[in-house]
Amino acid sequence: MTTKDTRRNPALKGLSNTPMVVAHRGFSGKAPENTMSAFTLALEAGVSMIELDVQISKDNHVVVIHDSTIDRTTYGEGKVSDLSLAELKKLDAGSWFDANYKDERIPTLVEALELIAPKALVNIELKSTRIIRKADTQIADATVAVVRKMNLLERVLFSSFNHKLMKYVKEHEPAAHTGVIFHPVLHFGRMPSALALPAGAEVFVCSKREVTRRRIADAAKHNIIIGVYGLENQQDIERMLSSGIQVLVSDYPDIIIQGLEQYQIHKAS
Ligand code: G3P
Ligand code: MG
Repeated sequence: MTTKDTRRNPALKGLSNTPMVVAHRGFSGKAPENTMSAFTLALEAGVSMIELDVQISKDNHVVVIHDSTIDRTTYGEGKVSDLSLAELKKLDAGSWFDANYKDERIPTLVEALELIAPKALVNIELKSTRIIRKADTQIADATVAVVRKMNLLERVLFSSFNHKLMKYVKEHEPAAHTGVIFHPVLHFGRMPSALALPAGAEVFVCSKREVTRRRIADAAKHNIIIGVYGLENQQDIERMLSSGIQVLVSDYPDIIIQGLEQYQIHKAS
């Protein structure tokens, strides 16, 4: 049985023939992840896209933070979903990384999009549990509503490890660009087409360890774009580019941009 390709959109502009550098959680190698400083540094470095993670506050605001709790990236404790936006905004979201960032606050998605979207594309990763619960559709609905209201559907790629949630997003907003992220345990051994097509997604995201020839061939056959995260050095870049991978995700986007230039110079000479 073949799976019907439900994708209706042309690929997100820029996610096609030319290599694209994506800053993972902003320039998270240099500034606290998912903060306005990390986004500003990534834009200054000249990235094409910034990846960020979203969670929902108790009072239904979409906020930019990776974990479901505030414990790791602030000095507070507890679940993001148990705190109001006002409570979240009081937290220092930068000192855990470096004392110089003590004034950093957890951004709202609106604040992040206002900063990033005029200059770069945005990959919004919806954090969610593995099955769809009410909380998951709530975050999807709230996030899509923000992007739609800001008229940024053409500048945003939604992604998630929860592929059912990506299917839900696509069904409720056919104009959304979506990507499925590979989880080595949940999706063990599966090919990009087996995961992206049922969700109606145009992008398949995996870590550098999960890139294989079979996956690359499968994605190419089904017109699925592969994005790879965890890239750190010239060797990684050369391996990706020589395999035809175009979307390069890194905590150190400056290294990737330089590496890309080197690779292109070397190839042209
Ligand atoms: O999109 C790739 C990557 O962001 C997924 O993992 O944990 O860094 O959000 P994580
Ligand atoms: Mg992420």
